[in-house]
Amino acid sequence: MAQPGRTTFPLGGDLSVHRLGFGALRLTGPGYWGPPEDREAAISTARLAVDLGVSFIDTADSYGLGSNEELLAEALRPYPDGLVIATKAGQCRPRPDQWVPCGRPEYLRQQAELSLRRLRLDRIDLFQLHRIDPKVPAAEQFGALGELQDEGKIRHIGLSKVTVREVEAAREHITVASVQNVYNLTDRRNDEVVEYCEKHEIAFIAWLPIARGALAAGGSPVADIATELEVSAGQVALAWLLHRSPAVIPIPGTSSPAHLRENVAASGIALSDGQLARLNALGRTHDDATVPV
Ligand SMILES: NC(=O)c1ccc[n+]([C@@H]2O[C@H](COP(=O)([O-])OP(=O)(O)OC[C@H]3O[C@@H](n4cnc5c(N)ncnc54)[C@H](OP(=O)(O)O)[C@@H]3O)[C@@H](O)[C@H]2O)c1
Repeated sequence: MAQPGRTTFPLGGDLSVHRLGFGALRLTGPGYWGPPEDREAAISTARLAVDLGVSFIDTADSYGLGSNEELLAEALRPYPDGLVIATKAGQCRPRPDQWVPCGRPEYLRQQAELSLRRLRLDRIDLFQLHRIDPKVPAAEQFGALGELQDEGKIRHIGLSKVTVREVEAAREHITVASVQNVYNLTDRRNDEVVEYCEKHEIAFIAWLPIARGALAAGGSPVADIATELEVSAGQVALAWLLHRSPAVIPIPGTSSPAHLRENVAASGIALSDGQLARLNALGRTHDDATVPV
């Protein structure tokens, strides 16, 4: 029986986080544009995540146009020791459901300041460049993050939706603590990035870990293994990610307390070598896939 390996990851070398994290994107309103319709329910879901032992929560300045960060601050302050809230900047939101890369250095600086205010923090533990903006020289974007770090406003720097080549280019300017890319059982287009991150002790934060719910839904390709293990299909998808590499931190998103409990419990599931082989065989690279967020 294969075990999922270490239960924590040393983010940036000095922040130990549980590898089963929480993505807060779902705690917003329609189109990810504003606050959630049921604010009290969203607040209690965020609190439940921490009560269940989650110590890594992912948000962004653009989630709910800032309201997601405000909600996390309201729910979780005073922040418990060891809780890492990772945020991002670098995507503008002209309309609901629209995301446009914005990487001007002055804009990234402004957004870091606004995230500090909304999260009510003196320093952001992990500040991620949401997208490398193709309209702005990449070195300028990395430089802005390096400056924020030198000034003590952010502790560690992460990148999102990047190739190995882009991570290597960034590492010429800054220390990269994490990469956040799409990755799940049936979408392995970032296999090479996972390998690279594991080799260099960079956290690989897997977004869409249950394929926006598809891997947990009826007809999931992992339904038979879920039945064998007497767990849910979504739990199998998360357990596979934890077995895939000790660098992987899945950040499943949910607004449902029941799903949250189920997702966190997936960190205790061991998969047999045979089950792992069957799950590995489900992978596809989805070269032509588009993921809008
Ligand atoms: N860096 C980027 O560009 C980027 C892009 C997208 C997302 N992200 C991050 O990744 C996180 C996760 O992404 P995501 O929320 O879009 O995708 P996801 O985690 O793959 O899937 C979330 C969907 O699955 C459902 N779900 C969650 N747990 C379930 C369970 N146990 N059983 C059945 N259904 C379940 C949720 O619905 P319910 O609410 O009903 O549970 C929701 O519809 C986000 O919160 C965000 O932090 C980052």
